[in-house]
Amino acid sequence: MAELEKCLQEAQAQRFRIIVTDGVFSMDGNVAPMDRICDLAEKYDALVMVDESHSAGVVGPRGRGVAELFGLYGRIDIHTGTLGKSFGGAVGGFTTGRQEIIDMLRQRSRPYLFSNSLPPMICAAGIELFKILDESDELHDRQQENVAYFREKMLAAGFDIKPTQSAICAVMLYDAPLSQRFAAEMAKEGIFVTGFYYPVVPKGQARIRVQLSAAHSREQLDKAIAAFIKVGKSLGVLK
Ligand SMILES: Cc1ncc(COP(=O)(O)O)c(C=O)c1O
Repeated sequence: MAELEKCLQEAQAQRFRIIVTDGVFSMDGNVAPMDRICDLAEKYDALVMVDESHSAGVVGPRGRGVAELFGLYGRIDIHTGTLGKSFGGAVGGFTTGRQEIIDMLRQRSRPYLFSNSLPPMICAAGIELFKILDESDELHDRQQENVAYFREKMLAAGFDIKPTQSAICAVMLYDAPLSQRFAAEMAKEGIFVTGFYYPVVPKGQARIRVQLSAAHSREQLDKAIAAFIKVGKSLGVLK
């Protein structure tokens, strides 16, 4: 935040300033301090844009993203998000925010004007999904329960998992070749997980990233946890 404040001070001579941030950072699952970002934006007259790809549908009491989590409705100018994560589709995304910005994007954004846009059925499925989420919190609540369940069992088994307020559980291994071996062994157990290492994460911060969804049943979670424990023991990660 100190660095951001310095940048905003340096940009005071410009006509416009905009702070662009992820709502949830995708490798650790940590949430951006949006309240402090909005305070700085107001102090230094900057717009705020947040990528809610990992927070929409997940973060906040009803999964409305970081604006809901921090009670910032009306203080964030632009939200972007994907339909390809918690919303379950494979493709597509959205931008929402202040009306004047949306009006401008309808004239200026490439998918509207110059490129092939999203297929209509993807848009229709996306719109339907927002309706489903508006009608019931069941999917959101189940997703949160699944994260809590997985984390609790994995921590009890002895794994090192980063704190998260999102769907992302980073199972820390700290060693790049080990993360690849671990993912390959998990595949043999019927579990698809991805090992991430430098330069996607800092050196020495290799991990397996797991994302929990509402579609995971308790049996599937138990199977994944059992596989983690089996592979963790065989590779010496767990005692
Ligand atoms: C923060 C963030 N924004 C956007 C994306 C990309 O979403 P899409 O695949 O829909 O372009 C990702 C994906 O991995 C992401 O982590």
